[in-house]
Amino acid sequence: MNDVRPETMERITNKKLAKAFIDEQVAALRAQIGDGKVLLALSGGVDSSVVAALLIKAIGKNLVCVHVNHGLLRKGEPEQVIRVFREEMDANLIYVDAVDRFLDKLAGVSDPEAKRKIIGKEFIDVFAEEAAKLDGIRFLGQGTIYPDILESKGVKAHHNVGGLPPELNFELVEPVKFLYKDEVRVVGKALGLPDNMVYRQPFPGPGLGVRCVGAITRDRLESLREADAIVREEIEKLPARPWQYFCAIPDFQSTGIKDGKRYMGWAVVIRAVNTVDAVTATVPELPFATLAAIRDRIIATVPGVNRVLWDISEKPVSTIEWE
Ligand code: XMP
Repeated sequence: MNDVRPETMERITNKKLAKAFIDEQVAALRAQIGDGKVLLALSGGVDSSVVAALLIKAIGKNLVCVHVNHGLLRKGEPEQVIRVFREEMDANLIYVDAVDRFLDKLAGVSDPEAKRKIIGKEFIDVFAEEAAKLDGIRFLGQGTIYPDILESKGVKAHHNVGGLPPELNFELVEPVKFLYKDEVRVVGKALGLPDNMVYRQPFPGPGLGVRCVGAITRDRLESLREADAIVREEIEKLPARPWQYFCAIPDFQSTGIKDGKRYMGWAVVIRAVNTVDAVTATVPELPFATLAAIRDRIIATVPGVNRVLWDISEKPVSTIEWE
């Protein structure tokens, strides 16, 4: 397989170039796939969403998208995937509610790498099970982008929730494999995907699982999801957003006081970083008004939380994620 971006390929920097790329890819996809069927794991991230939109344009209902909700997605994400792809783009979308299955497997597991392995393996199992239910699928769509190819032997490999069992034996369809991230976004915009999908900050495969520090419990995970939505909403009001911004809830408690009574509650840790390549990261100064707005909303509305902290640690030595 040819994995080198052609030297003659122009950088896609505007709508006109994106439209030309889309037309070219739609023709190439039709030539490759014919009247075959393609299966695609659609996470709602920008890469898989752009691949889905391209394939819908090229082959319509012969694309079968599978969206696995593993319970570790952010607030509103599964709903948005369903709204954009099933309702607006009329895609053939299978929604798999695998929340209990993942959370049951993760119960009591506190080691970060063990958690990642469970999430990765379970994801492949769920996806393979869905694939086995379908007839006549010959192709597998993938949101591989050029940096994935360049880095495939590097650091990122252990991060990716990757690989399907070889017995599934699909031919790969990778229409954005020569694009850089900024080009994928330009193409996504030209395809009509919503801005909060196209300009989405990076989100790890294991999702909120690595931010619900230690052994995940359903109540702490729900509080994390609510707190994360507040952190994102407040930070997105700023004129310039950091590269990545989210929160974590560690598995310890501290004392709070309410109506004269002392009680134990969780602490939400705000994390916002800037980086070029995620190998090193700096912490931008957030306005105190933003931090205070986050604090006030979280304390007033998120169950079980009685403290809000701001993580000002840089990488190295602190990784961006808490696990
Ligand atoms: P760290 O925490 O290693 O994160 O400084 C660097 C970047 O990688 C993301 N990250 C992951 N992405 N699977 C992923 O797909 C993972 O297991 C994973 N762990 C970290 C992290 O969000 C940051 O952007």
